[in-house]
Amino acid sequence: MMTSSSSTYTRAQKVLHWSMALLIIFNLLLAEGIEALSDAAETGAAPAFNDVVMGNMHVAAGCAVLLLALVRLYLSLTRGVPTPPPHEPKAARIAAKVVHSAFYLLFIIMPATGLATYYAEIEGADYLHGEPLRLAMWSLIFLHLSAIAGHRLVWRTNIIGRMIGSR
Ligand code: HEM
Ligand code: HEM
Repeated sequence: MMTSSSSTYTRAQKVLHWSMALLIIFNLLLAEGIEALSDAAETGAAPAFNDVVMGNMHVAAGCAVLLLALVRLYLSLTRGVPTPPPHEPKAARIAAKVVHSAFYLLFIIMPATGLATYYAEIEGADYLHGEPLRLAMWSLIFLHLSAIAGHRLVWRTNIIGRMIGSR
């Protein structure tokens, strides 16, 4: 991914970051509806109204993540991402690149396995979606938040300032 000469993300990149973070947290924490809907489809039972609403919201939020990720990837590739804080070591730069790239991969394969489970009933997709990929997403979020604290505590970088504000 190319770097721009700016030290903060653009307004569009910030809006995309925070809206996708909310959609992903929503899907990770409130997945009972889609699970109940999926079970009902298997057994032929009528799903509860609440599960239909929450289940469809899961599908919509997940598809939005996929589409927004493509827009975000396009913006990162064409407009670039801010230059890394210059006073930080190269290892921190590489670690950030690895974690951010892994996020982008999950933004695509998490919805893709969800779609494969829900619409195509592809064998193994539900396991991938619900176990390894769910755990991978939580692990990356944990690493991401620890890194933000680390930037502040170790190198005194105001990293949050790069992802908030009006520019
Ligand atoms: C970033 C996007 C997404 C995230 C973070 C996410 C997260 C989750 C989580 C945490 C579960 C519960 C797994 C468990 O505890 O076993 C789940 C289940 C499920 N999700 Fe998603 N999901 C996303 C996108 C989608 C999409 C786009 C679809 C389908 C169109 C989908 C369909 C399903 C289905 C069918 C289940 C139930 C699987 C089962 O019970 O067998 N998901 N999802
Ligand atoms: C589900 C939750 C989240 C996901 C998936 C996520 C994902 C990402 C990704 C992929 C990037 C790289 C930016 C890019 O090139 O597009 C990024 C950057 C960033 N995120 Fe998050 N994020 C999440 C939550 C948060 C939270 C809760 C915070 C603040 C406490 C935060 C603060 C930041 C900051 C400050 C950056 C910029 C880092 C830099 O300057 O290199 N993120 N995030």
